[in-house]
Amino acid sequence: MKRLRLGVNIDHVATIRNARGGGLPDPVRAARVAAEAGADGITAHLREDRRHISDDDISRLSQEIDLPLNLEMAATDEMLQIALRHKPHAVCLVPENRQELTTEGGLDVMRGQSHLARYIKKLADAGCRVSLFVDPDVDQLVASVAIGAPVVELHTGSYCSAVGDQRESEFVRLIEAAEQAENLGLECHAGHGLTYETVGRVSEIHCIAELNIGHFLIGQAIFVGLGESIRHMRELMDAARSSLESA
Ligand code: PXP
Repeated sequence: MKRLRLGVNIDHVATIRNARGGGLPDPVRAARVAAEAGADGITAHLREDRRHISDDDISRLSQEIDLPLNLEMAATDEMLQIALRHKPHAVCLVPENRQELTTEGGLDVMRGQSHLARYIKKLADAGCRVSLFVDPDVDQLVASVAIGAPVVELHTGSYCSAVGDQRESEFVRLIEAAEQAENLGLECHAGHGLTYETVGRVSEIHCIAELNIGHFLIGQAIFVGLGESIRHMRELMDAARSSLESA
């Protein structure tokens, strides 16, 4: 079975830096620590309001880091120009709403088909691997295939925040969506809200190839350091995958 890749999202290192202005803590340094701790990629969301990651962070991450960069961005012309300038390894298109604290839901691919298709084509022509951040909903997956997306990232937020029976039904939604994605020929990623508590079961969904995790890892780093925070997440992911092999 393929190793489950870990993309470490470093947005909230920039959130802390921006709380005071200046340059510390440096997200590029965090990306180097993530690489040493077992990350397979670095993820950064350049939001339209630049509340955390800045344009300069994206330039430096592109130039100074060896790991593949996954740029999360809204499907706007401004962001497209930035992506085409840096040509990151991957681009994840996300919905963006200025008032939200974080990405609240997946893209409505069914409604935005013609708009999104143009972005997918331009980014793919530039050599970027394009993913669409979607809720675990079969109709969104079918629409993603129809507009030529090679990858989807399933929003795990509802699963992570649910409790009791609701958590179980959200998990079933995730499994079914991941299997559908595989059947449709989509590479399947997942992320949002994952913690040490929730990562194990998601990692056991064998058709998921990559997880993108940020907020929890940066918070945990306050207590144990960033390297240790990431290493432990990596261990939990690997343990869940090897339990599948021995089952
Ligand atoms: N994937 C996507 C598409 C996201 O927008 C985010 C949040 O920026 C994440 C993953 C990571 O979520 P979290 O920070 O909750 O781990």
